[in-house]
Order: sequence, then structure tokens, then C-alpha cells
Amino acid sequence: MNEPVILRLGVPVLNQDGQQVGTLEKLVFSETERKITELVVRDLASLKRVLMTQVSAMSAHSIALSCRGTLESFPVFDPSEFEEVPTWFFPPGYQIEIGSLVTLKPSDIRAMGEAAACSRREFMARSTAVVAGLIGISLFVPIGGYILAAAKSKVSDHWVPLSIPVSQLPVDSPVSHTFRAISVSGWMRVPVERTVWLIRHSSPQDPMSLPEDQKLGLDSKLEKQFSDPLLTVLSPICPHLGCSPQWNENQKLFICPCHHSIYELNGSRVSGPAPRPMDTLPVKIGKDGEISIMYEQFAIGIPEKVRLA
Ligand code: FES
Repeated sequence: MNEPVILRLGVPVLNQDGQQVGTLEKLVFSETERKITELVVRDLASLKRVLMTQVSAMSAHSIALSCRGTLESFPVFDPSEFEEVPTWFFPPGYQIEIGSLVTLKPSDIRAMGEAAACSRREFMARSTAVVAGLIGISLFVPIGGYILAAAKSKVSDHWVPLSIPVSQLPVDSPVSHTFRAISVSGWMRVPVERTVWLIRHSSPQDPMSLPEDQKLGLDSKLEKQFSDPLLTVLSPICPHLGCSPQWNENQKLFICPCHHSIYELNGSRVSGPAPRPMDTLPVKIGKDGEISIMYEQFAIGIPEKVRLA
């Protein structure tokens, strides 16, 4: 079974050229078709409805559309035509993040002969059962992802101690390290697992003397302020379209399996379609050598390192 993709509000939506054309606002389920049929995407000014048939790829970090250009040609999304179902209605076990919203068309409910007579309370309860069923089915669909923490969902901006001293890391050989963090969704705080690459260098590196390409990966105030000459922390997310580059010990390179972007030990680009190096993350090393990092996510598919809210 394919792993379901869990989509978050705010995940970048890219056109066929890899340009970001908007961010995800909602998913729309169709009861009649028993699947997610539409995305609601916010471009700069408006909400646009994008049919799922226009989606060429989905990951937890981005959605790629099969069209070029902007969202101009897509119809506007009218929220009054939809009912939102808060996900705290859902029983535990469904892979929807707390605080997320799932949207059903009332027409779908009416088609089941229920809506007209339903009170709001009954409507919500029944819609919940319908949506829960849909979710169960959708978990078997490769693109069956669910939205979405609230609009400002993010991993909390705080330092996370990794409980690993830098002296225990191998030299010049990246280590994939998984840790627990707190995802903040409005007032909700949800524990999540995150992974980063830790690279301990054999010789000190001065971030400001790095090649231009690698400096791009430092293009954030926080990373400039919090870096360490002996340790680089890289995001596990490929800045091309959001896959996960893996370290190849034989070739001594990071290789992204999706479109074959290749990066050096320090995250610099070697080749492939990635528009910038792998993203570095802020790091601090305490007096006892303990590593603390700040987990951040950045827009993908663009040369600039733009931090996601
Ligand atoms: S996602 Fe395309 S190269 Fe990594």
C-alpha cells in the first residue's frame, strides 16, 4: 500500500516549470466520486479551484500541476458553495492533523437525500461519518492525502536539543537524525517527527567564504546568525520538488531519487534540476558539545530560500 500523503495548508503549488503559482488552502472531497476532486489554491489575490486531474505529482512538501503558467485560467472558488467539516469530528487513527478542515459539497450530501431535513448538528454528524468513510478509502489512493493544519501551521520556532554531542558524529559522513518537535497549529500543539542531515566536517568551514552556490543555502538571517564551522545541518527536503535526497557513501554525494538532483557533502549543487543547494538549518553547539537546531521549511522550486510561515 502506498503511504498516504499528508498535505498541509500552505504547501506550495507549482506549475509545470517548477514555478510556485500559489499555496494550498483546502481539499474538496466528492462523495459521489468517492475521492478528492479539487484543490483550492490561493494565488496572490484569490482562491482558485484546480481539478485533481491537473495534478501531476504530490508530496508532503509540494503539489505539481500539469499546466504551465499561472492560475489565471482556473475558476474562482466560492466558499459559500461548500461546508467545512472540522476534523476534530474524526475518530482517532485517521491521518488528518488536528485543526485541519475537510470540505464537502452540500450537493453531495443532498444527493444522499439527507441535507434538506438535517439540522446543522445532524448534518455535521452525518457528514463526518461520510467523510470518515471517504478517508478510509482514500488512504488506499496514492494521492489520497489530507490537509492540512490551520493556516499558520508550522513547526514551532524553538531550539530543539538533539541529545547528541557533536563528538559522537562521524567525520565527513552525513548522519540522518530523527527527533521529536512540536507542530503549532493556531493554539494547538502537536508532537511530530522530523529528520535532518548532520554533517561534521574534518576541517572548519567559514560559511561566508563558501562558493556562491552554497551560500544560497545560507540565505536566511537565522542560518547566517546560527552556524557552526564544524557542523552543517541540512534539511531532508529536496529544494526542487520536495523529495528526500539520500547520501550515497560510495559516490560521496547526496542523490535525489525523484529527478536526480545531486549535491555534495555540504549540500552544494553538482547537477540536476534543483534551483538551489540543499537548505541549511540554524544550529548551535552548547558548552558540553550538545547540538541544538531550529527546524525550518522553505518554499521549493525557486532559487531563493524563502522560509515558510
Ligand atoms: S525532487 Fe526533483 S530532484 Fe529532488
